[in-house]
Amino acid sequence: MTNRKGGVGKSTMAVMLAHAAAAWSGRRVLVMDLDTQCNASLMLIGGERWEKACRSGHTISDYFYDRFDKVAEDESAYVVNNAGDVARARTAPGAVSLLPGSQRLEDIQGELLLKHSKKDLDADAVAVQVRGRMKRLMRHFGMDFDLVILDCPPGLSFAALAALDLANHVLVPFRPDFVSQFALDRVAMLIEGVETSEQLATIPLGKRRYSCLPNCWTGDGYERLLIDQLALDHPLLNTRIPLLASIARAFDWEETKKTIEEKYADALPHLRELHHEIMGAPEPRARTAHA
Ligand SMILES: Nc1ncnc2c1ncn2[C@@H]1O[C@H](COP(=O)(O)OP(=O)(O)O)[C@@H](O)[C@H]1O
Ligand SMILES: [Mg+2]
Repeated sequence: MTNRKGGVGKSTMAVMLAHAAAAWSGRRVLVMDLDTQCNASLMLIGGERWEKACRSGHTISDYFYDRFDKVAEDESAYVVNNAGDVARARTAPGAVSLLPGSQRLEDIQGELLLKHSKKDLDADAVAVQVRGRMKRLMRHFGMDFDLVILDCPPGLSFAALAALDLANHVLVPFRPDFVSQFALDRVAMLIEGVETSEQLATIPLGKRRYSCLPNCWTGDGYERLLIDQLALDHPLLNTRIPLLASIARAFDWEETKKTIEEKYADALPHLRELHHEIMGAPEPRARTAHA
């Protein structure tokens, strides 16, 4: 999940999709929190458990720091299992786990750079090395999970760039407002590794590594016009996630577990559609039309 813009729903969509893939497709899902704001972590395990992970040195920045120069055999020690406040479904008992985020992730990247720059390498070469190592360290988790969702920060940290390199597919949630065209162009160029929109335009939409997900959709005339325009330049999902109080509420972690139906309430048909589009799973129930 990425977008250089904050507040577009990256963490919200990461958590929603994680719950859906676990509950409806029975997947073992890992959410890796790469944002120093740690919203996905707070949504999945609450403040108390997240602080405990920080105190005991079991966050993503500890993982990178501890394992950077060594073989990472024991990555499972950093993972919090049984995350999220959705109870396991009886029909498809998948599970959500979390590699907790850390406010120190960007400091760690600076420390790793410094540590490695002693080895007579120029700054660019060191940066490439640090990113490459982070990417390999992240890849280790793929062995234990069916789906790994990387929740990226808006900034271009090394971990975020490594995540974009590593991902099989990149989802770009966005709010359909007047700056979204600019935001999507910018992130698309980064994902595809090109410098100009002309270069981007030479890559067919069907061959792009990303797709864009309209969020906070109200369906008014302006948004429809904008979406038609954006669809000329970027691959868009058919799903539109509306602006709903149930989604805003889902941001708050609760101690008591509930079913996914209870948690997402009227957002459910939209979550089903998103799940279906991303995971290709059969839809168990009829969809209601959305605006
Ligand atoms: N579809 C939606 N309906 C209502 N509120 C939403 C929706 N999507 C996101 N939000 C709210 O918007 C805020 C920003 O979302 P967040 O997922 O943290 O964005 P990002 O990770 O891109 O910074 C949060 O308070 C979240 O609850
Ligand atoms: Mg976020």
